[in-house]
Amino acid sequence: MTAASAAARRAAVVCGVGAALPPHIVSNADLTTRLETTDEWIRSRTGITQRHVAGTDLSTTDLAVRAGAQALADGEPVTAEALVVATTTPDRCCPATAPSVATRIGLTDIPAYDLAAGCTGFLYALATAAGLIAAGTVRTVLVIGVDRLATLPDSDDRTTVPLFGDGAGAVVVRCGSADEAGALGPVVLGSDGTGADLIRASRPGALHMDGGEVFRYAVDRMCTASRRAATAAGWVLGDIDRLVPHQANSRITAFVARRLGIPDNRRLSNIAETGNTGAASIPLLLAHAAADGCLQPGHRTLLTAFGAGLTWGATTLTWPGLCRSHPPKGAGHDR
Ligand code: UT7
Repeated sequence: MTAASAAARRAAVVCGVGAALPPHIVSNADLTTRLETTDEWIRSRTGITQRHVAGTDLSTTDLAVRAGAQALADGEPVTAEALVVATTTPDRCCPATAPSVATRIGLTDIPAYDLAAGCTGFLYALATAAGLIAAGTVRTVLVIGVDRLATLPDSDDRTTVPLFGDGAGAVVVRCGSADEAGALGPVVLGSDGTGADLIRASRPGALHMDGGEVFRYAVDRMCTASRRAATAAGWVLGDIDRLVPHQANSRITAFVARRLGIPDNRRLSNIAETGNTGAASIPLLLAHAAADGCLQPGHRTLLTAFGAGLTWGATTLTWPGLCRSHPPKGAGHDR
């Protein structure tokens, strides 16, 4: 067997999914008591009605542990041999989040590292997990996307505070064959540092974002990446049963679906309940949609994201049958 054909037999196959949201909910009505805004403005411009916000007693590490443990418990019975945590809001600059998360989940001595690629971080992490498996380094990887984006805006800034929430989502990928349900297609990734200043934060409470410019760029790059990922997987866009876009703004994801020619009832969304949870957004949506039945085994699914960096990405998979014991709640189509 050549090295290339060996790698082709080592596809990354999704076999577990988990989610964690802080219990504290901040509604749009709550925000109107301290910001010059309205529920109507936030809902009509973003699709968001509430977001979950972590208190000081719930860290990025805590959220990651909960989602990761659930993904391992609720999927096929496997043990993770590596952990990749995608986040731009780690608890500390040093050390990375992943080793502590691995230890708390009971994964001892495994490779564990963080990766930062803004809201695209989860797709970047999936790509590195697929690479570890294709190279034969490990057979299973736990991939966690976690962010506490509600910590980033200036608390008086009505243009950014309503957008962001906290949460974590996770998937387990294992070595399998490219033609089985759950196998990831090629992951398309990109970045453009000329847009680095469009979303930036030098510290918590100091987020700057050029919303309009980011909006246009997001639609453009998610569409391009989606087309490339579908083509690389041998799919045409008309084949896609479910679009799972990063939950930045429901107007952005509606534009993406429309431009790709994907009917709007195939676009999944949970932004109304969660806001923009950064690297957590796609795995959270997968977990919620699988639990609610919006995502069914056999659905040809396209994932796409965009974020600070600027970064973007997309990939495909046919949704697998997962044996879930404690399904989380709260997803659907935009309402
Ligand atoms: O994960 C990636 C991270 N970021 C994103 O994806 C963000 C992408 N961009 C967006 O989602 C949208 O651009 C926003 C939701 C941020 C803004 O929506 P918009 O439709 O582009 O509004 P705008 O920035 O053009 O603002 C329109 C008006 C402005 O007032 P004037 O200048 O027309 O008088 C804003 O000051 O709305 C005003 N405004 C608000 N009014 C009430 C901005 N924020 C608020 C608010 N409540 N919360």
